[in-house]
Order: sequence, then structure tokens, then C-alpha cells
Amino acid sequence: MYKRIDGKAISADVRAGIAEEVKALNQQGVSVGLAVIIVGEDPASKIYVANKKKACAALGIVSEEYALPEDTDEATLLHLIDELNHRKEINGILCQLPLPKHLDEKKVINAILPAKDVDAFHPQNVGHIMIGDFDFVPCTPAGIIEMLHHEDISVEGKNCVVLGRSNIVGKPMAMLLMHENGTVTVTHRKTKNLKEVCLNADILVSSVGKPNFVTADMVKEGAVVIDVGINRVDGKVCGDVDFDRVAEKTSAITPVPGGVGPMTITMLMKNTLTAAKRQNGILK
Ligand code: GUN
Repeated sequence: MYKRIDGKAISADVRAGIAEEVKALNQQGVSVGLAVIIVGEDPASKIYVANKKKACAALGIVSEEYALPEDTDEATLLHLIDELNHRKEINGILCQLPLPKHLDEKKVINAILPAKDVDAFHPQNVGHIMIGDFDFVPCTPAGIIEMLHHEDISVEGKNCVVLGRSNIVGKPMAMLLMHENGTVTVTHRKTKNLKEVCLNADILVSSVGKPNFVTADMVKEGAVVIDVGINRVDGKVCGDVDFDRVAEKTSAITPVPGGVGPMTITMLMKNTLTAAKRQNGILK
């Protein structure tokens, strides 16, 4: 029998704690504010941003949305970020990615004040994560660690395999698993003998973005499988893992939807709360 890890339930638990902390801060006269910038009309990005706004409202976090047209020039976007960097009531700034092709993502990320970079994408925050001294962690890997803790799944001494080496998920995920004393392998398109590598995993995290990429013959009996993929097949959302066949081999597995997804926005809320506490001298 495997455990189906319920991201919605864990997320609701964590969110209740955040809402309480926000309320306590409000009572001390401290507000918590997040600015969300979206450029253009990407449909998936619009849904993500709407969900982020909804989560803020539910937790008492004040959110401001800046929806800029597709043809926004770099100077306009950088000017907006500079303004937000200087506003005291804005504790976190997030620029939804991907940006339209004519905008330089690196330049935009670098323009956000590291203390307000609740995505933890700024190179300064990436460096902090590498040395294990950080306030903000990219939301998806942070959510996965939170889920493992919540389920009492220890990483120490375990073989952890992360499929995918993106800056947003794969690389920070590997760092966090190392900080938890896991033995970590990161795989990518050029990895040889992928199946053998995966069969060695006690904890397997897939962030590939291909439906049915992880099949039952790649999974060790009793492994923990975390599915980060969000794919669409015939209009239905699915992950990277062939859930029905893989689940029976695992000791615990996250479904899609209802697994990692709900945790991601929750961790953004947590990072925003942390930013507000830090900026108001509540966290030293
Ligand atoms: N696009 C996809 N995931 C993310 C995320 O976590 N943050 C931002 N800013 N953009 C994204």
C-alpha cells in the first residue's frame, strides 16, 4: 500500500499558519505586501497570477498586480521594478516568467532587490541557497521539502535522483536535498543509463515536463516519487509519472493535480511573509 501525498491538505495546513502570522503582524501595525508583474497574454501565466492573487487575499497579504502589454519595453519594466524596490509597503516582488522574447529575463531578475526577491531567482539568493544560508527558496523545491517533512520522510542518507536541471526546480531541489543530507544525482537530456540511475533512487523527483516519462520499470520498490510535471493531454492535466502503474511500487507518491502544485503558491506566501518580517526587523 502506498501513501498518496495530499498537497492540498498540507498546503491548507501551512496556509493556516501563515494567515495567523499575517494577522499577528497586522495587529502590530505591520502589513504584508506582494507585487506581481505579468507582461503579455500567456494563458498559463495569467492563471498562475490569478491564483497567486487569490492566495494573497485569503491569507491577508495585500497584493498589487501590474499587467503590462506584450510590447512593453525594457526601460518601462525596469523603471516599475525600481519603483517597487523603493516602496516600503511592498515586501515581495515577483515577475511572472516566461517574459516576451524581446525582454532579457536575466536583466529583469537582477533588477529586483534581493531582499524582495520572493522567487529566489536573483543570483545573490541563488548563492545563499548554495551555501545553505538563506531566507528565500524557490517555491517549488521549498514546497517539496515541506511535504517531505510533513510526511515524516527523512532524506538523510537516501539516494535522491532529480530529473531535470532547471534553475527554477532541478538545481535548487538538488541543493535542498543535499542540505538535508541526501546523496543527490541530477539527470538531464545527456544522461546515460537513465533507467539504472532512477532504479537507484530512494527519492525520485521528476521535473521534466513530459507525460508518462517516468514508468514503473524505472522505479525501485518502496521509493518515494515526487511529480513536479504539469502537462496537458487531451485537455486533462497530468504529471511526468505514469501514476497508475508507478504508484503501486512506491511507498509514497504525489498526484497531479493536487500534489506539488498547491504547495508552490503556499511557499510564495511564506517567502513574502519572511520578507515582511525581515524588512520590519522582526527576523534578525
Ligand atoms: N513561471 C513558472 N514558474 C514560476 C515561478 O515560480 N515564478 C515566476 N516568477 N515565474 C514562473
